[in-house]
Amino acid sequence: MADLEIRNLHVRIEEHEILKGVDLDVSRGEIHALMGPNGSGKSTLASTLMGHPAYEITEGSITFRGEDITEQEPHERAKAGLFLAFQYPVAIPGVSVANFLRMAINAKRSGTDTQSGTGQEPITVKEFRNQLQHAVELLDVDRAFTSRHLNDGFSGGEKKRAEILQMAMLRPDVAILDETDSGLDIDALRTVAEGVQRLHDEQGLGALIITHYQRILHHVRPQFVHIMLDGRIVLEGGVELVERLEREGYDHLRQEFGASEAGAVAAGDGSG
Ligand SMILES: Nc1ncnc2c1ncn2[C@@H]1O[C@H](COP(=O)(O)OP(=O)(O)O)[C@@H](O)[C@H]1O
Ligand SMILES: [Mg+2]
Repeated sequence: MADLEIRNLHVRIEEHEILKGVDLDVSRGEIHALMGPNGSGKSTLASTLMGHPAYEITEGSITFRGEDITEQEPHERAKAGLFLAFQYPVAIPGVSVANFLRMAINAKRSGTDTQSGTGQEPITVKEFRNQLQHAVELLDVDRAFTSRHLNDGFSGGEKKRAEILQMAMLRPDVAILDETDSGLDIDALRTVAEGVQRLHDEQGLGALIITHYQRILHHVRPQFVHIMLDGRIVLEGGVELVERLEREGYDHLRQEFGASEAGAVAAGDGSG
């Protein structure tokens, strides 16, 4: 059984069915890439996994380590060991990156971020310092960065650095990363890709990297590649699929797999 199991997932936003039966398995220790043209439903899947209330699941299920989390709140999913990027997207005035990381670790330990209350002791100052030092070295982050105020004037790359540090410290089993295409420069993409690869190699992180861009995959080696088109996964394989996409583009794919059901409501504009 996979850690994260997505079965026949149908998701609707307002009147439009966006996901039309998605099946996907992600386990600890596996790096997956989910690719597809704009409007194919990638972010809808990410938001649904996150537990975003605007997305209505009309059919299917999401299971994490054997537990049905389809109806769970986002913080319960995080507690279970699922890491969803952009969990804390806001600037918190006066809180440094380091303090934020410590708060996040302690919230996870004490169970105050859920009602379940596992009641672990807070991390000691020394233990925290050691773990942080290890994480900044592993991820090649400037130590001074951890003294900056969280999200206060952060560039895209700095937000990503904070996120990947958070991942290193919280040690989730499976992380879902929706690398939206807008405003992310090469440097930021590389930070994420290399960070995920290192956390995979060192901690056995499992990850689902969602991206429109093939180039992020120059810095991370997914074992599994899934291609989404019109709310369905139409093609699965290894990295050779990425190379094929680079050669042929999404248009070719659309001709092969697209519009099989007349596009139906065709909410998307179809341009990639
Ligand atoms: N909040 C929303 N309200 C209405 N339609 C939406 C919303 N979010 C996404 N959609 C539609 O769902 C489809 C898939 O979008 P999205 O999941 O963002 O695709 P991708 O991330 O692959 O570009 C698009 O046709 C988009 O217009
Ligand atoms: Mg998207």
